Amino acid sequence: MARVCVIGGSGFVGRHVVEELVRGEHEVVVPTRYRETAKRDLILLPGVDVVQADVHDPATLERLLAGCDAAINLVGILQGGRPGTPYGAAFRRAHVELPVKIVGACRRAGVRRLVHMSALQAAKDAPSEYLRSKADGEAAVMAAKGEIAVTAFRASVIFGPEDAFLNVFARLQRFLPVVVLACPDARFQPVYVEDVAAAFARSLDAEESFGRVYDLVGPKVYTLRELVRYAGEASGHPRPIVGLPDRLSYWQARLMELAPGGLMSRDNYYSMKLPSTSDARLPFGIVPTPLEAVAPAYLGAARREARYASLRGGARRTRGGPPGAGAR
Ligand SMILES: NC(=O)c1ccc[n+]([C@@H]2O[C@H](COP(=O)([O-])OP(=O)(O)OC[C@H]3O[C@@H](n4cnc5c(N)ncnc54)[C@H](OP(=O)(O)O)[C@@H]3O)[C@@H](O)[C@H]2O)c1
Repeated sequence: MARVCVIGGSGFVGRHVVEELVRGEHEVVVPTRYRETAKRDLILLPGVDVVQADVHDPATLERLLAGCDAAINLVGILQGGRPGTPYGAAFRRAHVELPVKIVGACRRAGVRRLVHMSALQAAKDAPSEYLRSKADGEAAVMAAKGEIAVTAFRASVIFGPEDAFLNVFARLQRFLPVVVLACPDARFQPVYVEDVAAAFARSLDAEESFGRVYDLVGPKVYTLRELVRYAGEASGHPRPIVGLPDRLSYWQARLMELAPGGLMSRDNYYSMKLPSTSDARLPFGIVPTPLEAVAPAYLGAARREARYASLRGGARRTRGGPPGAGAR
């Protein structure tokens, strides 16, 4: 049993990594900026300590890591830059400065194992700030490999219950009569969140992974159009999809930057210029889970929930309740 600090452990991927570590009987510390809103199921997991903390403060980081055998860094943001700059302050802080601070805190606290989440296609000369900043963060972590056993993972888009990917496409199709889609031919190789979590957990003791970087991808490549269509069909609301040509995709991204919700930005548009695909196999003998084996259950669950909600609303109307009462 080891004690592991999972920075970014309160997010979508983090919660699965933490659960996998708990299954392996590890003790886990999860710092978060918002303990009050952290998922209750995370707080209630046995052996998991969810703590309110500012991980950007080096002294706080060192305190969090003291007594830990390993650290995992999953902090990442999708938006926060100004197009045309190497990367904006938010990307620099989350993707570059924080990994540098984590490496420093590991050194001071005597933590000799660090596993880091990068991104597929991260490169210094990549077209987006997201990918350029991820590359610099990954490089900072890997530069410590002489003193710390470091491993980095570069994932394609990750799917699973509560993902902000297929679920968003499914939800959009519930409300929109037609999907006007930017970058319809962008390519992805979605990887299942449980496979990602298994890779992180198994890497901790896998000496062959020390000093190495692994791509994490699923078994099949899809275009964005295919994925949006799939999400619509699996959730029971398939809509016509109108793919935008490149120039209009850029302008849609630019306009959506102004809308609340952070659905799309020009930086996302630039990221999609590169195929998020790889020939690599998952490490540690993990067999990649096909999207089709998992997504229908959670996208279909959303469909059932929406149907029950409308039935509940209908029942109340029949009993004289106000229209829409009971619908969520
Ligand atoms: N999801 C994907 O499809 C995908 C694909 C490839 C790579 N990745 C990478 O995988 C990692 C996890 O992604 P995710 O989907 O789980 O993200 P997520 O759900 O948005 O979770 C992000 C986590 O990072 C923390 N965080 C965010 N911004 C922060 C900041 N400025 N300072 C400190 N902590 C911050 C959040 O903690 P709080 O509790 O404090 O908010 C949360 O725990 C990220 O590095 C991401 O780039 C994700």
